[in-house]
Amino acid sequence: MGRVAIVTGGTRGIGEAICKRLQRQGHTVIANYAGNDDKARAFTEATGIPARKWDVGDHEACIAGCAAVEAEFGPVDIVVNNAGITRDGTMHKMSFDDWNDVMRVNLGGCFNMAKATFPGMRERGWGRIVNIGSINGQAGQYGQVNYAAAKSGIHGFTKALAQEGAKFGVTVNAIAPGYIDTDMVAAVPPAVLEKIVAKIPVGRLGMAEEIARGVAFLTSENGGFVTGSTMSINGGQHMY
Ligand code: CAA
Repeated sequence: MGRVAIVTGGTRGIGEAICKRLQRQGHTVIANYAGNDDKARAFTEATGIPARKWDVGDHEACIAGCAAVEAEFGPVDIVVNNAGITRDGTMHKMSFDDWNDVMRVNLGGCFNMAKATFPGMRERGWGRIVNIGSINGQAGQYGQVNYAAAKSGIHGFTKALAQEGAKFGVTVNAIAPGYIDTDMVAAVPPAVLEKIVAKIPVGRLGMAEEIARGVAFLTSENGGFVTGSTMSINGGQHMY
């Protein structure tokens, strides 16, 4: 059955792959994005998936953005909180803004999107929320106290909200990707990335589509008994 799905950060990278996969599953998909208008336009032209611009770190913008989507497309039954940023740096170089921006977008975005959509799912008795965490939220990562804290927070957020949603047919799960071949990972200095890839047992970076397949399962009717879980998709880099 086709549902209305919002994927945040949906026009690029992992989010783009998730949008395309959910569209192939028969859902009406709306891609949220925050910055790159040109890329969003090209994405919509190529896929037919509408893109809507708001900052997931902005609470009021999320409430208004989701209300506009619901008015145009109908009740939102699936939310994939994928939007995320990095501001990497070692502690002695990391500014408060680097910390705050990452917490605000990566973790705050999950709260804001859930606040806008979870009550409706709860009332209708069906919903799927998938939060994109990270291997670095599970294992930590040198130079990422902000990102690791936010992603780790996502895993706690997921388990708490899953307990609230369970009796209303709303599942809440996380996926913890490892290093995936995206612009975000391409920004890691090549010498550092080479050492990271050398530690991945499967011997390569992951592909965005490999995360999208996990989302497809967790958002499906068949995923109804899976809630509060974290699916690690990381090529064996961290077994948790
Ligand atoms: N463990 C121990 N020491 C490390 C280290 C590590 N993992 N990485 C770097 N260091 C050491 C270096 O060896 C160096 O030490 P020396 O001066 O004694 O040689 C020191 O730290 C400084 O390293 P850099 O020269 O790299 O310092 P920098 O300030 O230029 O950069 C950094 C620091 C920003 C953390 C950089 O190393 C970096 O970008 N690292 C990658 C961080 C990372 O993995 N980010 C993931 C982005 S992708 C993502 O987040 C998606 C996802 O979910 C997986």
